[in-house]
Amino acid sequence: MERWDFIKTCGFACLSGTVFAAVLEGCGSSKMIAGTMDKSGLVIPAASFQQGNASFKKYVVVQNEQLKYPVCVYRLSATEYTALLMRCTHQGAELQVVGDRLECPAHGSQFSNKGKVQNGPADTNLRTFTVSIQNDQLHIALT
Ligand code: FES
Repeated sequence: MERWDFIKTCGFACLSGTVFAAVLEGCGSSKMIAGTMDKSGLVIPAASFQQGNASFKKYVVVQNEQLKYPVCVYRLSATEYTALLMRCTHQGAELQVVGDRLECPAHGSQFSNKGKVQNGPADTNLRTFTVSIQNDQLHIALT
């Protein structure tokens, strides 16, 4: 094998391994989860935030077929969570999560991880839900 062919072969093998590892990591740390409904609201396992032994996801996006919009749940600490309806208060577009804030793809409004408006045109905070922890489950009251 020529030297250049050897370098190309090794380079492609290395690149393929890197891409494959990134895909696996992406699957393992998915932030989209399905919540279950009970009479009090939406329920998700507290373990949904766990990634690895001692680290946690900042947030998960919870979906359920009964919800018109997903709910973003931020983990602020082991005992403090916020749950935000991902519906923009300007004209109702579905929000996107960008780290510690939610952004509206329609006109650019931004909201904090507690649902407070940070940038307009929206001028109303997001709808939030009370989160309680029982038996390693988060109960998100949808009232
Ligand atoms: S609908 Fe979100 S900023 Fe207009």
